[in-house]
Amino acid sequence: MAHSIAIDGPAGAGKSTIAKRVARALGYVYVDTGAMYRAMAVYLLQNHVSADDDAAVSAQCGGADITIRYSDGEQHVFLNGSDVTGLLRSEEVGSMASRCSTNRKVREKLVELQQKLAASEDVVMDGRDIGTVVLPHAECKIFMTADADVRAKRRCLELEQKGQSADMQKIAADIRERDERDKTREISPLKQAEDAVLLDTSDMTIEEVTAKILEIAGLTAR
Ligand code: DC
Repeated sequence: MAHSIAIDGPAGAGKSTIAKRVARALGYVYVDTGAMYRAMAVYLLQNHVSADDDAAVSAQCGGADITIRYSDGEQHVFLNGSDVTGLLRSEEVGSMASRCSTNRKVREKLVELQQKLAASEDVVMDGRDIGTVVLPHAECKIFMTADADVRAKRRCLELEQKGQSADMQKIAADIRERDERDKTREISPLKQAEDAVLLDTSDMTIEEVTAKILEIAGLTAR
């Protein structure tokens, strides 16, 4: 059995930054499951499918062949053979990903892909339902949160560093809307697994959070 660390939490809590560092420290593969929902969102946007039309999303999502490959340790997501990694981080795609991730067929398809990856590799996997649904037997489960305003500030900083303009109020509103949708959806909502350790990263540095998870993983690893 491969080893696995599950990191769940809301948008902007710092999951991917931390998960990448933890994976590097342990020599595990980092799996960003949000990127898979984002690739599905790209497919649905390209095909002009409305996220509000659940039947249409169910009917169309089968046409998206999503695969993951790694080059130089970085995850690349392929949609029907094309590398779409560069298209995934926009707000439009993020919002569509959150909306289409409420669809049962979309989730079934992507959870299967995630479980296959984790069966053959030691992984640090981040998302919303990893500890609860995808890898319920993960040796180490972390539920990472941060205050919504702190998360909005981090996102603004990230955009500004990329030379893009950032409207703090709009970003904060989007984050709250996305949290609400991810937490209240019927299937696999964002929720702390009973055996997950809660980490509020609002006042912690990246180094502190990484060290804390490595410490927890050391205590619980088989
Ligand atoms: O982590 P992220 O912002 O890249 O994720 C984008 C959306 O995908 C998120 O709003 C909800 C959905 N998602 C999910 O439902 N389950 C996951 N395991 C990962 C992401």
